[in-house]
Amino acid sequence: MAATIASQSSAALTFGLVARCSTTRARASCLTLPHGPVQLPMFMPVATQASLKGLTPEQLEETGCRLCLNNTYHLGLKPGQEVLAAIGGAHKLQGWQHNILTDSGGFQMVSLLKLASITEEGVRFLSPHDATPMLLTPEHSISLQNTIGSDIMMQLDDVLVTTSPDAARMRGGHAAKLLQGDDRQRSPGIAIGGLSGGEAKADYCRVVATCTELLPELKPRYVMGIGYPEDLVVSVALGADMFDCVWPTRTARFGNAVTRKIVAVYAAEGETEGLGITRAFVHHNTAKETVSAHLLTLHNVWYQLNLMGEVRDAIIADRYPAFIRQFFANLYPNKADYPEWAVGALRGVGVDLFEDRT
Ligand SMILES: *[C@@H]1O[C@H](CO)[C@@H](O)[C@H](O)[C@H]1NC(C)=O
Repeated sequence: MAATIASQSSAALTFGLVARCSTTRARASCLTLPHGPVQLPMFMPVATQASLKGLTPEQLEETGCRLCLNNTYHLGLKPGQEVLAAIGGAHKLQGWQHNILTDSGGFQMVSLLKLASITEEGVRFLSPHDATPMLLTPEHSISLQNTIGSDIMMQLDDVLVTTSPDAARMRGGHAAKLLQGDDRQRSPGIAIGGLSGGEAKADYCRVVATCTELLPELKPRYVMGIGYPEDLVVSVALGADMFDCVWPTRTARFGNAVTRKIVAVYAAEGETEGLGITRAFVHHNTAKETVSAHLLTLHNVWYQLNLMGEVRDAIIADRYPAFIRQFFANLYPNKADYPEWAVGALRGVGVDLFEDRT
């Protein structure tokens, strides 16, 4: 394991800095949590609900995942707090030996439930099961996450910073603690939220860059709800460490494999990267058998985790700028197709995508 160059511990976690990119703001680090260490930058898989087409804990473990995200809201509804308490938490419930991060539950309230309203007290909404009025307060959210036994909890908070009215609407329940001076000092990590509500990517990058510039160095920075492979590569360059997104597992259920580009397996031929089975087999079963959705989920999670492993290696070897240029060159054979937001954001941290050097 790589040696740390600086570290900071709190009761909940130890953050050890392993390497800094000498050009961008990327860092490689190690986060020590109650269920073992995790290497950052990292992507955390999230399946919105334990489902047949998802992965077994063994399969998730085999992808190298050591920290996954579970939804407080879903677990609170089913199996519910009482059952969770009786079983002894979500690790036992699903036979998962490694770390779990839970969200506050706020995102589901705001995004899934039309009839949610946010007050100083909490989030009011109607139960999707029987329409009884319910209230999620910050206290209840933490109590639920305690019962779940999560290794990293998110606090229910209101959005403090927005880049567009849309972002505020879509992610109103999420924590954006970066401007809370007190919390920034006390909390062992920082979550940047409210950003994947459909705002322009250039705005997204500007907010992440502004945050990472202000945030203390020896705390993990988690950007919620990101993302596509290119979003991950750019966000790491801007100084972010942790990400989650339902997209890789969700798109698998629709028959899509994530490679550098998304491949609709209906149309694809050849071998599926890293899986040792033919695309033809997956194609043969797509939309007919759950086995295909299952294999694609496995593949997509593996792809994202492997990408982050390569990113981390490149940072440690201090060749991240070259890695980024190569990544974009592979993704867009024609440089004219490079997205403007990525070109601009990377230029801001010293990487010129049009430079020929690799
Ligand atoms: C927890 O998250 C993992 C990763 O997405 C998923 O496979 C698992 O089914 C989730 N568990 C529950 C109980 O939601």
